[in-house]
Amino acid sequence: MKEKAFKERIIYQIYPLSFCDSNNDGYGDINGIISKLDYLKDLGIGIIWLSPIYKSPLKDNGYDISDYYSINPIFGTMEDFDNLIKEANKRDIKIVMDLVINHTSNQHYWFKEALKDKNSKYRDYYYFRKGNGKKPPNNWNGAFSGSCWEKVEGEENMYYLHLFTKEQPDLNFHNEEVVKEIENILKFYLDKGVYGFRCDVINDIYKTSLDNGKFRFFSRGKEHYENQEGCFNTLLRFRKEVLNNYDTFLVGETSAITPKMGNKFLSSGALDLFFEFDHAFCMSNKFVPIFKKRKFKAKYLLKPLFKWQEVVPWIGAYLENHDQLRSVSRFGNTSKYYKESAKALAMLLLSLKGTIFIYQGEEFGTLNYQDLIYEETNDCMTKEVVNTVQNILHLSKDKAFKLVNETVNRDHARAPIAWDNTINGGFNLGHKPWIKVNSLYKEGINVKDNLNDSNSILNFYKEMIRFRNNSDTLKHGEFIKVKSNSNLAKFIRKTNKETLLIVINLSSKVIKDKENNNIKILLSNYKDHIKDKLRPYEGIIYKVN
Ligand code: GLC
Ligand code: CA
Repeated sequence: MKEKAFKERIIYQIYPLSFCDSNNDGYGDINGIISKLDYLKDLGIGIIWLSPIYKSPLKDNGYDISDYYSINPIFGTMEDFDNLIKEANKRDIKIVMDLVINHTSNQHYWFKEALKDKNSKYRDYYYFRKGNGKKPPNNWNGAFSGSCWEKVEGEENMYYLHLFTKEQPDLNFHNEEVVKEIENILKFYLDKGVYGFRCDVINDIYKTSLDNGKFRFFSRGKEHYENQEGCFNTLLRFRKEVLNNYDTFLVGETSAITPKMGNKFLSSGALDLFFEFDHAFCMSNKFVPIFKKRKFKAKYLLKPLFKWQEVVPWIGAYLENHDQLRSVSRFGNTSKYYKESAKALAMLLLSLKGTIFIYQGEEFGTLNYQDLIYEETNDCMTKEVVNTVQNILHLSKDKAFKLVNETVNRDHARAPIAWDNTINGGFNLGHKPWIKVNSLYKEGINVKDNLNDSNSILNFYKEMIRFRNNSDTLKHGEFIKVKSNSNLAKFIRKTNKETLLIVINLSSKVIKDKENNNIKILLSNYKDHIKDKLRPYEGIIYKVN
């Protein structure tokens, strides 16, 4: 039987605001994406996931949608989008949309009607509730740390719920009409030829109750809305009413997921795959998460990563996305072994089980900003968290920013993509971009310089992607962890036809590793090999006889 496309192909995430600006107005756009399809094809990508391109006031860069049926004019028109699907299809690339349904923008028609008229049917599309004396309806606080309730202006003691910013009011999935609205949106895009959906904060959409939550700094109240039965039922309903009629798939963004819940999402059919976040947050200090990072050790990354490889039959495997700092800056080496470490991470990622996600810029070793200051920050979350850190730790704004910038500032991933070493890294023709350019494009961290260097990170990605695309073992084999030195990622991928052994040194030390002579080297990130040793960040894929 032929596997579904999402199990065969590598997915590349585009953050449209920062990908390529075709009309030089400072914002990336759809025509910019179209102009880079050949690049993506050449890279070996089979599916593109677009972060939101719908109409939006961009308070959370598009994760606040004001009209699901139109394209934000900054990005282009619906015709441009149709053209993107057509041009992608010509190259056998499928398009995945971001489905943001936990909340809308406060500028959405539904919410504006709900505010205008207490008796409007749209009031029940959201959570409007009376306060508790002088306090909000409950003690929940948001994912970005501030309160979850905003007062309704001009109404006595009335609030609405928002798990994220106050410009992102939460939708009420107890309301049948809301469920139907989402079904119509799904149909609309599937009929246009969209292949699937990445479902934003999907395991939070269903609020079982609005009771007070247990004490927590962030996401207080989450026991009332995380992984609820109602969430499974809602997704299964989408499946039955809409999705089953199409060749499509859903990948869920599921923060704080457990193996039990993850398996339930898969076995119930509610999701086809999901993202876990244990490995993504492995660098934050256990006791003061978010505010302080710890020094990288390979085991911090590998333990959670491998745990998830072992406990679920399929997963969305990734090291980066638009919400994380750059992976080489976090898990690799940014000085002497920069290239080796970026290639080692590429080998790790592309040898894992599941559907592989590559985030724009990751394929040529993009690093964090080196010199960002608070005033240059765009990220709405960073601003809220800085505020909270200032209050809790009694720090100045600059000191609080310094901590948050090194741990959770999402802007690091959102700098304009550097296509070459001309002005603004070739993101556009010179107009000031919406967010600061990462000046490292001048030092070779750009696409063109990488393409011209046969030993570059980008060329290694290409080689590794080609290898995976041609390897049934990497795509479909089982994953078996091998006990080893804690600086090594050592694991087996295996089908009944072939066994591969992957060994990657994730440190800048030389490490002894004796592999028997029955094995043949298929791929490596160094040009030569030294018997029984792995040099800093050296990675090797062996074929076992
Ligand atoms: C998801 C998105 C993030 C956004 C949040 C609220 O976590 O990835 O960028 O801010 O949801 O929609
Ligand atoms: Ca533009």
